[in-house]
Amino acid sequence: MLREGVTDTDLDMSSLAPSAQSSRSTSTARSGGRWIDHWLETMHDIETLRAAHPMMDAVIEEIDGRMIRVGDQWLADFASCNYLGFDLDPEIIAAIPGYLEEWGTHPSWSRLLGSPVLYEQIEARLTELLGSEDSLVLPTITHIHSSVIPVLAASGTIFLDARAHKTVYDGCQVARSRGAAIRRFRFEDPQHLDELLSAERDSARLICMDGINSMTGNAPDLRAFAEVARRHEALLYVDDAHGFGVIGERPGDRTCPYGSRGNSIVRHFGESYDDIILVSGFSKAYSSLLAFIACPTEVKNLLKIAAPPYLYSGPSPVASLATVLAGFDVNDRRGDELRSELHRHSARVLDVLEELDVYTPNHSQFPIVEIPLRDHTHIDAVGRMLFARGVYVTLAAYPLVPKAEVGFRVQLTAINTDAEVDVLIAALRDLAERGELQSRSAKTELELV
Ligand SMILES: Cc1ncc(COP(=O)(O)O)c(C=O)c1O
Repeated sequence: MLREGVTDTDLDMSSLAPSAQSSRSTSTARSGGRWIDHWLETMHDIETLRAAHPMMDAVIEEIDGRMIRVGDQWLADFASCNYLGFDLDPEIIAAIPGYLEEWGTHPSWSRLLGSPVLYEQIEARLTELLGSEDSLVLPTITHIHSSVIPVLAASGTIFLDARAHKTVYDGCQVARSRGAAIRRFRFEDPQHLDELLSAERDSARLICMDGINSMTGNAPDLRAFAEVARRHEALLYVDDAHGFGVIGERPGDRTCPYGSRGNSIVRHFGESYDDIILVSGFSKAYSSLLAFIACPTEVKNLLKIAAPPYLYSGPSPVASLATVLAGFDVNDRRGDELRSELHRHSARVLDVLEELDVYTPNHSQFPIVEIPLRDHTHIDAVGRMLFARGVYVTLAAYPLVPKAEVGFRVQLTAINTDAEVDVLIAALRDLAERGELQSRSAKTELELV
């Protein structure tokens, strides 16, 4: 998940990898020597945590609602992306056996050979929910980025958000290896994108960026980016892995700031799909292994013959197709209620951080709350303290994020209990009192200087 903290000046791990000649040709390399040492040195901070920290690479032995057991310790889970709680929804779980009886566990044709009719049903319902012209589903977003970005970019120029998700970066690297050029624009800066596009002579232009950012929890100004893209006749490709299922259209009478129906960022901003390709997935809010691309039918048909996962990859298991279809039903009937609960929990945590003068980049009330530490070297101790207090979060270590952003990420879900959120809040108060967290007002002053 991490490595979203990449900027132009950040560590580029690929450039630190030893070259094939310098290492692989030595006997030490063959016996697992120098090349691996180089990687371990580069990744020292995170490898130290992975090897010894109870909150990393953990074996979760049991769950009870959003409580999880690691060894003897029960912890409230604030690291899951199951925002709507569909993973534990009795109605969704009950839907699975019927589908398994009808379809078996796994359709092992590649999609180009043939797909169970469940795929047609999912794509029809998804297209209706999103309000797009059409949609195509594939197993994961990672599959989509690595196969679709190279098709859309061809040998043109990609304008890449400097803090786009690592999987978007990797998709762009594949495109580069096939002849595309890459220019990076500054995070959340449509003006910079405008300048780069104005200076570009290549007429084939693809812009790649995140929707809801997976670390800050904030949405980009999609309207501004769409306007720049259309003015320069570029195609805008947006990864809204976290937004789908949480944010959605905003009719006049809305009660929840997330909007309703959870139909993702394009609808949330009241935008059309003209010149926008939306990519997202079901593996977060819908707790199912499946992802999608919302695009015109003409593009969908091209991808059916040009995107390798459609031609060659094994498809999602039937249980995941079943939980997506049952998830649509639950979303229709109870989704807005669940989103209100999710918002209530998120607002509680954010209100406490504000009261404590603790900095978080989250200004959107989305259920991702990143909390950087005042001193990045304290991550081990802070993580252990949270673990001991029964709070499970995602540690964000260097070099996956820049040193100034080392800390932890809290994610709320609709089915966390108030008692679990109380435990989290008590631990945050304690950390703030000990001076472990960054001060919001000091940060603002710094920005103003
Ligand atoms: C923004 C973003 N894009 C893509 C992915 C990868 O999604 P998938 O597991 O469907 O490949 C993630 C997963 O964390 C993500 O946060």
